[in-house]
Amino acid sequence: MFPKTTFLLVITIFHFTIHLPSPVSGSDPDPIQDYCLPSPHTHQCKNSSTVTVDDFIFSGIKHPGKFTNKFSGVPVTASVFPALNTLGMSLVRADFEVGGINAPHYHPRATEVAYVLEGKLYSGFVDTQNKVFAKVIEKGEVMVFPRGVLHFQMNVGDSPATVVGSFDSQNPGSVKLPVALFGSGINDELLEKAFGLKSKEIEKLKKRFGDENKD
Ligand SMILES: *[C@@H]1O[C@H](CO)[C@@H](O)[C@H](O)[C@H]1NC(C)=O
Repeated sequence: MFPKTTFLLVITIFHFTIHLPSPVSGSDPDPIQDYCLPSPHTHQCKNSSTVTVDDFIFSGIKHPGKFTNKFSGVPVTASVFPALNTLGMSLVRADFEVGGINAPHYHPRATEVAYVLEGKLYSGFVDTQNKVFAKVIEKGEVMVFPRGVLHFQMNVGDSPATVVGSFDSQNPGSVKLPVALFGSGINDELLEKAFGLKSKEIEKLKKRFGDENKD
């Protein structure tokens, strides 16, 4: 027989072992089958007899997408490329005209490794101590943006630039700061106080980024 206190201690340790999330479980769950193409109606995995090789090929990043302010981003996440469903990764193609930027943004669910296919970009991120890590990188180089950390790029070369980013999530999410702040409908008074701006200036920002939110 254990003394009662020892018994309680064992129970307590057991309890925490079971319920505390593992410190390394910060990614998409492991797949429990080879692949899972969701069927359109039931959202369950399609019967593999109806799956073909073309389900595993995505051609939509052969070319840049639609440019807005000299920038185009084509996400290749599970929602546009269902073969990625349950596989824990995705991509983005980003194209920059000369001077174009990818405004400060973060991906809540993924670290990004960005590979420069073409061009020269001022590229960086800001950590939670507000320390900026930024530098011009060029064709053939890779930069990593840790998960959930604010990052940005600007084409500082004299020709177009192309980057391919890969993510360790099938659905990394993207929060674009200017749009999240000024295009989302946050109360004006709060924004005026937060940024020390006048009502007119907030109106101008809201107009600009509210329109971008409708794209
Ligand atoms: C998948 O389809 C095949 C061929 O139609 C069928 O024989 C099989 O029972 C199906 N499997 C499941 C799990 O529905």
